Amino acid sequence: MIFASDNTGPAAPEIMDAVLHANAGYQMPYGNDTIMPGVTQKIRDLFEAPEASVHLVATGTAANALALATLANPWDGVFMHRIAHAEEDECGAPEFYTNGAKLVLVDGADGKMTPEALDRAILATGDKGVHGVQRGPVTITNITEIGTAYSLDQIRALTDVANSYGLKTHLDGARFANACAALDCTPAEMTWKAGIDGVSFGGTKNGCLGVEAVVFFDPAQAWELELRRKRGAHLFSKHRFLSAQMNAYVTDGLWLRLAERANVRAAELAEGIKTVPGASLEAEPAGNMIFAHIPRGAHKRAMAAGAKYYLFPFNASLDGPEDETIRCRFVCDWSCDGETVQRLLGLLRG
Ligand SMILES: Cc1ncc(COP(=O)(O)O)c(C=O)c1O
Repeated sequence: MIFASDNTGPAAPEIMDAVLHANAGYQMPYGNDTIMPGVTQKIRDLFEAPEASVHLVATGTAANALALATLANPWDGVFMHRIAHAEEDECGAPEFYTNGAKLVLVDGADGKMTPEALDRAILATGDKGVHGVQRGPVTITNITEIGTAYSLDQIRALTDVANSYGLKTHLDGARFANACAALDCTPAEMTWKAGIDGVSFGGTKNGCLGVEAVVFFDPAQAWELELRRKRGAHLFSKHRFLSAQMNAYVTDGLWLRLAERANVRAAELAEGIKTVPGASLEAEPAGNMIFAHIPRGAHKRAMAAGAKYYLFPFNASLDGPEDETIRCRFVCDWSCDGETVQRLLGLLRG
């Protein structure tokens, strides 16, 4: 009953097979393996973007930080939601890799920036001449950090604001596949067709061992990303193992099938939480991540039986009134089974 994160589960068998297969013999290093050209082609096909550049890294933080560093000057502001992963959970990597760009935080309910708030934040930035930071890129996360999803129209509304100031846009797609499955849209619709310039296309949380692709729709950005990846120590010498994972992930729709499974389990869990006495969902979840407020007594039963998931704040105590609610997060991965979801719900219901 591990619902702590979508990176607590195993890698998918198709990914492991691909890695084992890639282990045979010798391959040139640093992205010059024979698998990578096929990966680039498949991702271009997937995104309907024949010119796109594709760069593999092993973590979502590296993908975000290197992509933003490529899109921002050191003296820029980078616009993102107040609770963006890049702001809250990357230990300053975006600031570090951009050489000190300032993160400008934008408000909006349900983990989503509103176009009005973004416009206000951009207007308030870059109007102080040499004394203030300049206007830089906007980054949007889908699935959002609290498990909701921006619709395609909502993404377009934000990129329209960014474009009206001539700013570039990035999408943090650590849960890109879950968002596509939730919105029933194509990768192209969620990105360049909605005005996105670059994307961190996640694999690790969705059944890979550790691989994410930075995809830029304007190939002019490619060389700078290549240099930043090497200089930032994220160019793998045994790159073939990253290539092999991503190759399997984007073959025959595996990326989407795995996400659909995770989303189905999360939807079952979310429906069930609504029937736990005293519990409520923080927001209607769209993908594979649920935030809820659940009475302490229910948490105690579930955790005593071995359930693992995060409580917020992190030091929230299980000592206290049984009916007081504690905020919590559940994440389902591709391997989560329906029985485990029902077992957890049974414990929470008591
Ligand atoms: C929205 C989002 N972006 C990026 C990341 C970064 O991934 P990693 O932990 O691989 O650096 C995460 C991981 O939790 C995430 O949830």
